[in-house]
Amino acid sequence: MNQPGRVIIDNHGRPIEYMRLAVTDRCNLRCFYCMPEEGIKYLPKKALLTYEEMERLVDITSKMGVSKIRITGGEPFVRKDLIDFLGKLRENERIKKINITTNGVLTKQYLPRLHELDIKDINLSIDTLDRARFHHITRRDELPKVMDTLYAMLDMGFRVKINAVIMEGKNTEDILELAAFTKEHPVEIRFIEEMPFNGEGANYPKLTWNFKKIYTELESQYPDITRLTAEPASTAVRYKIPGHAGSLGIIAAFSRTFCGSCNRIRLTAQGTLKTCLYDDGVLDLKALMRSGADDSAVEAALLKAFKSRPRDGFEAEKNRTTLKNVSESMSTIGG
Ligand code: GTP
Ligand code: 5AD
Ligand code: SF4
Repeated sequence: MNQPGRVIIDNHGRPIEYMRLAVTDRCNLRCFYCMPEEGIKYLPKKALLTYEEMERLVDITSKMGVSKIRITGGEPFVRKDLIDFLGKLRENERIKKINITTNGVLTKQYLPRLHELDIKDINLSIDTLDRARFHHITRRDELPKVMDTLYAMLDMGFRVKINAVIMEGKNTEDILELAAFTKEHPVEIRFIEEMPFNGEGANYPKLTWNFKKIYTELESQYPDITRLTAEPASTAVRYKIPGHAGSLGIIAAFSRTFCGSCNRIRLTAQGTLKTCLYDDGVLDLKALMRSGADDSAVEAALLKAFKSRPRDGFEAEKNRTTLKNVSESMSTIGG
């Protein structure tokens, strides 16, 4: 099964190279665009994939061409022994990149070990630099801890991207403040269109703060903003303000303009495969593995799913069966 240089090309000509792994659905924040304040039913432990099961899936998919893993959640660092799991993943030589998306509340203590493991690309979720607004958006007063993590990461030479979901009436005044932060700090700040994955079945027929409006806001303050090149499968369109140490990005997550080059699959916290963020799960890998399937049976099921991906997020949304409206929480999907 181990064929060097193998990459699966999906039914729309896109290579599958990147797997996002949600290691938990639990979180120590309650960002309102992701989870309701109360009434969240966390998955029982046996409903989650074990680390051994995740390792097995990484092994199988890496033999099919996956070379980049992103660890997400929920908040990945609330799962016990995550660092040991990352150490195990590092032993897989086909995985060239292991990146993490974290809210930064608990992350600082793990930075030396992450550095040793050469896991240096970390995306931090920070929607505002204002403590009161941060408290309001995340329903927790944790901005000082998150900023402490951010500065420690910069001191230690981590490559940091900051994710800021832009929401009407919540943090649109932060767009320019966050952009100004890149003057002195070598980080990439990505402004993200809000998506309806808030666990409450919100329906967003129209999005006010879309890519264009965010860009116009930036251009009004920085008319000499220039476009940078980005990796071919990047979700972000990248920009630079001349003279700033860092850079900017805008992610059209709701408008879905980057599906044509999508190289990503997702494994949810409960072990379901998603071949698009907007589908409702196309393969129950946990059940398949727990029924005793051997690696070639798992690979065959994955291959079938890779060869029947929706063309884009709109088709995926249309094809949903169990949950017609997007209603799950981002915390089980991992973004
Ligand atoms: P890099 O690997 O650093 O490029 O990061 P990334 O953009 O893949 O990961 P990250 O977890 O930081 O995601 C940033 C935002 O982009 C999140 O809000 C994601 O939900 C959104 N995003 C990532 N992948 C997709 C996708 O396939 N479709 C859509 N619509 N949004 C996505
Ligand atoms: N819309 C857009 N982005 C979201 N994220 C979480 N929920 C949403 C949503 N409803 C983003 C967070 C986090 C990333 C993994 O997903 O900013 O950084
Ligand atoms: Fe937690 Fe991330 Fe969801 Fe915020 S977006 S509640 S940090 S999982």
